Amino acid sequence: MILMNDFKAEPLELREAMLEAAKRVVESGWFVLGKEVSAFEQQWALTCGLKYGVGVGNGMDAIEIGLRALGVGPGDEVITTPMTAFATVLAIIRAGATPVLADIEPQTALLSLESASRCVTSRTKAVVLVHLYGQIRAMDLWKAFCANYEIALIEDCAQAHLASLGGKTAGSFGVMGAYSFYPTKNLGAMGDAGMIVTNVEKLAERASQLRNYGQSVRYQHPELGLNSRLDEMQAAILAERLKWLSVFTERRRQVATAYFDGIKNPNVTCLALPESRSEHVYHLFVITCPCRDALQEHLRQNQIQTFIHYPVPIHIQEPCRNLRHDPLGLVNSEHHADTCLSLPCHPQMSDEDIAAVIAAVNSFQGK
Ligand SMILES: Cc1ncc(COP(=O)(O)O)c(C=O)c1O
Repeated sequence: MILMNDFKAEPLELREAMLEAAKRVVESGWFVLGKEVSAFEQQWALTCGLKYGVGVGNGMDAIEIGLRALGVGPGDEVITTPMTAFATVLAIIRAGATPVLADIEPQTALLSLESASRCVTSRTKAVVLVHLYGQIRAMDLWKAFCANYEIALIEDCAQAHLASLGGKTAGSFGVMGAYSFYPTKNLGAMGDAGMIVTNVEKLAERASQLRNYGQSVRYQHPELGLNSRLDEMQAAILAERLKWLSVFTERRRQVATAYFDGIKNPNVTCLALPESRSEHVYHLFVITCPCRDALQEHLRQNQIQTFIHYPVPIHIQEPCRNLRHDPLGLVNSEHHADTCLSLPCHPQMSDEDIAAVIAAVNSFQGK
């Protein structure tokens, strides 16, 4: 079976380095918010071209804590996309704010600026822009949009490690970026982990306080926070995996290039090409097909695993049915949910794997 991820196939050298890192943590006798976390916070912030990194428990908390650190909460509206992980919207709700859902662009599945502009009210305080599938586009337009309405731009970078545009890295366009290091992300830990990256010192300070019960100095709690601390083991593992991230990202791009060149089936459409190869990091390679379920079954029969990101848009999830959304509807999101399919696209794929996926997609005859 060609899998969506294959950690067991990773280089032995990486595995040994991670075991060494784990040993270092075990022997240090310090397990939460220590030297490994500080070092990785600095490294990741630097990688993003930013000054501050605040390690937290996961990517969802990074969004919630970021919003709270910005002062976005009850009574405030936050515009985002229904075509994302549930965590994006849940984080907004957990921060006490109200998500408002704008539709996506059909060719990229990214948030539509036009739709977002129909969602703005006097209560809008932020946009959580998701760099879905590893794409990053139109950031000048989003920055101008947010500046025009005087709202904060927060980037959900959970799928966009190293994605860049015009030499700037994901997370550095808005006031803050929220990263997830869930194991299957392009840079993944061996458990849950996340980080807020920013250039705003006050925001970083408040986020550091919020992740640790709202504690300023030991046993002093000027506000109510949460327990969302990054642990030393995850930070040490992430530091080792970071050394491989560029190589792994390059391989993802090679897989994607081969798919763009090789997939030729009138039933199948690839999402829009990025403007330049260096921008997109292909966390996921997504195609669309009107008879998606039949295609998925055809690929399964050809020993190819696929997933759907995402089969149920947020506004159709039970607790989110009453969320306000674009008055013109969320038709593109609904259509994408019915037709999208994620093909295997990971650094451990061999040339034979890639060729097998292309051949299987091309041999699909439709319903
Ligand atoms: C776009 C997006 N946002 C947020 C998250 C949440 O990250 P985590 O699972 O680390 O909480 C994810 C991960 O699934 C994601 O893909």
